[in-house]
Amino acid sequence: MTDDIAPHPATLAARALGWIEPATRAVVPPVHTATTFERAADYSLPGGRDYARPRNPAFDQPEALLAALEGGAAAMLFASGMAAATAAFQALAPGDHVVAPRVMYWALRRWLLDFARGWGLEVDLVDMTDLDALAAALRPGRTRLVWIETPANPTWAVTDIAGAAEIAHRAGALLAVDSTAATPVLTRPLEHGADLVMHSATKYLNGHSDVLAGALVAARRDAFWERLAAVRAEGGAVPGSFEAWLLLRGMRTLFLRVRHASASALAIAEHFRGHPALAAVLYPGLPGDPGHDVARRQMAGGFGGMLSIRVAGGAPAALAVAGRVRLWIRATSLGGVESLIEHRASVEGAGSPVPPDLLRLSVGIEEVGDLIADLEQALRA
Ligand SMILES: Cc1ncc(COP(=O)(O)O)c(C=O)c1O
Repeated sequence: MTDDIAPHPATLAARALGWIEPATRAVVPPVHTATTFERAADYSLPGGRDYARPRNPAFDQPEALLAALEGGAAAMLFASGMAAATAAFQALAPGDHVVAPRVMYWALRRWLLDFARGWGLEVDLVDMTDLDALAAALRPGRTRLVWIETPANPTWAVTDIAGAAEIAHRAGALLAVDSTAATPVLTRPLEHGADLVMHSATKYLNGHSDVLAGALVAARRDAFWERLAAVRAEGGAVPGSFEAWLLLRGMRTLFLRVRHASASALAIAEHFRGHPALAAVLYPGLPGDPGHDVARRQMAGGFGGMLSIRVAGGAPAALAVAGRVRLWIRATSLGGVESLIEHRASVEGAGSPVPPDLLRLSVGIEEVGDLIADLEQALRA
């Protein structure tokens, strides 16, 4: 790449940063499977690594690409999104106070209320669409981390990243953003003041429902980043080399997939808005959605491939619709090339704040007319 071209992130992704394998000039990296690396006679490490848990060469390229896409100083892969998210909290100390959203990825909410509290973190959950509520929850000097998720799974409520960052920093806390649904294609949280970005790379970054992985990206390589690296290296929650290789391959088509899914999700939301069989369509791309104005400020190029519908007639009607679809696959997860539908309340169980009439839709890259026709027949029946 010549010096006078500042490539668009889509170009960086398609070329996977343009790395060429030095031994063979291959344009695709080999799968590094070694777990250990030779020392020289003087006991130095000529290859710069000793063991794959802290320093797997299979992570170098996907981590460098993700850091570039997020505009971060560094990125780290983890064994799953949950491993990445929980590492951020494990890097704190018992007695520290954290604030997280009331509506968020359910397994992380459960982990915070169960394991994190049990281990000594003080956890408050607030409505993150209300920045006054966030400000009121902060304890200056005690709150170490504010965690937000935007758009938030599964209502797709939007949190103002810049506003949350300002409030967190004023109290001496860091702001971390679960940006799994937005992806770096649509939002770069670090540019809005966040300190840390987390992804379930299982979702859009990989995009093919065949890799479990997570990632953290930091604005700075500082003492907190070193602590996170120690949590990963010593806790050992790293993905395998094959997963890292597949993740890099998936990231090369990230922009194509996310742009397509976002355009289709908007078309689906617009089509079904006001549908007589629905009580609501939840999608930040719809004018009139409570998060639309903030989403327009911090999302560029689309509003994401995730939306939810609330079915008139409550949980039984929602479950019946999910039972009648033919193209949408009834399955959990999101961000793959195939479209998925899920009744979240059935999955989350007791204590879930998710409305029982809600069906979550992960829009894939199929022809959007087919997806609309399938939902229409399921709602009509
Ligand atoms: C928004 C969000 N964050 C985190 C996670 C957890 O990621 P993983 O399943 O890779 O551990 C998920 C998984 O569904 C998610 O949707």
